[in-house]
Amino acid sequence: MRHILFMTALTATAAAEPARFNYDESKVPPYSLPDPLRSAAGAAISSKEAWIGGLREETRQLIEREMFGKAPARPKLNFKVEEEATPALNGKVRRKQIAVSLSGKAEGPFMDMLLYVPAGATGPVPVLFGLNFQGNQAVSRDPGIHLCRSWLREDVKGGIVQNKATEASRGLQADSWQIEYATSRGYGVMTACYCDIDPDFHDEWKNGVHALFPEIEAKRDGATWGAIAAWAWGMSLGIDYLEREPLADAKRVIAQGHSRLGKTALWAGASDTRFALVISNDSGAGGAALNKRIFGETVGRLNSAFPHWFCGNFKKYSDKEGDMAFDSHQIIALIAPRPVLITSATKDLWADPKGEFLGGLHANPVYKLLGTDGMTAEEQPLPDKLIDSTIGYFLRTGEHDVTKADWEAYLNFADKHLPKP
Ligand code: GCU
Repeated sequence: MRHILFMTALTATAAAEPARFNYDESKVPPYSLPDPLRSAAGAAISSKEAWIGGLREETRQLIEREMFGKAPARPKLNFKVEEEATPALNGKVRRKQIAVSLSGKAEGPFMDMLLYVPAGATGPVPVLFGLNFQGNQAVSRDPGIHLCRSWLREDVKGGIVQNKATEASRGLQADSWQIEYATSRGYGVMTACYCDIDPDFHDEWKNGVHALFPEIEAKRDGATWGAIAAWAWGMSLGIDYLEREPLADAKRVIAQGHSRLGKTALWAGASDTRFALVISNDSGAGGAALNKRIFGETVGRLNSAFPHWFCGNFKKYSDKEGDMAFDSHQIIALIAPRPVLITSATKDLWADPKGEFLGGLHANPVYKLLGTDGMTAEEQPLPDKLIDSTIGYFLRTGEHDVTKADWEAYLNFADKHLPKP
């Protein structure tokens, strides 16, 4: 997703506050991480049962309460097939479009889902499912995609503007979606625009799905859901739909996402064990990167630039990462024993590639306790080499982006780790 949009915001901010952020490895202050196998009360566990039946849920609740906020129960599934499976992209795929009701009511509002499956598929296929930034029409030049109906965020010099999708935005992010490549390797690809679920700007949680839960908003406190929790909730609703979709194998759904949507994919995978595999790309602070390692973006910057992403309680850790009783390695540990692939880019220092690697590495005690090989690399590997242990890692040469090289790593990792049908 060559971030014309998001890079503008980042460059502008980094240039405005250059001294505030650390990009120098030798200046990372010492930090210590919570042991993922020790409860808040201090008791260490050493059996699978004690993790599965106790500490996992304690950890999940801690991170939910202090970071993302608690999402309400999802509505009963209600959807409209807007377009039955139709040949597209020169007959190489079939495209299906489905409007999933966010309220459970027939009148919506809707999350518009776009699904591609290989044309030659003879049975249900595994599906890579991720939210997109600029509307479904931006993920491919396929002219049959319905234009996004919701507001889209655009970062421009001096602020944020809200846009509506236009014909001109068709295929703008096609290079980051690789639909023809993924389907040629036997995978389905499903997406929906994150702004269908919750528009990405701060309005005190009045719009998007927050508006569908007035009783929750009336009692909003520090642990009430923010936008990332809402986007992850939408991804779970997407799986609710896939469980009814004959073209897809709902037991082989991969949660994937880039950047803020990589943070979302991790939390979706941590919260909903139906995701068989999780991939985060350049997810950075608030995602796979250790927040206590002060390098690149910090918790304070996340909270000030994007006050709507996390819950109110997370604000207390701005410039006080040392006070956090958890870190990203524990978000990743919640995914165990399911495979997780963390991908970074060499020039994406803002997202702290090494910190993303370490987030995965320090989830090892839980992955190993649950009988997997965990992360086999002990140090961050050289660029462009896929570490394909159960906690996988891939550092692509290049910028904050999603490219075909990332998709190759995703699919090689998925070929190895997805359960067989
Ligand atoms: C900004 C933000 C990051 C985020 C990124 C994105 O750079 O600071 O935390 O991951 O936007 O979503 O593109």
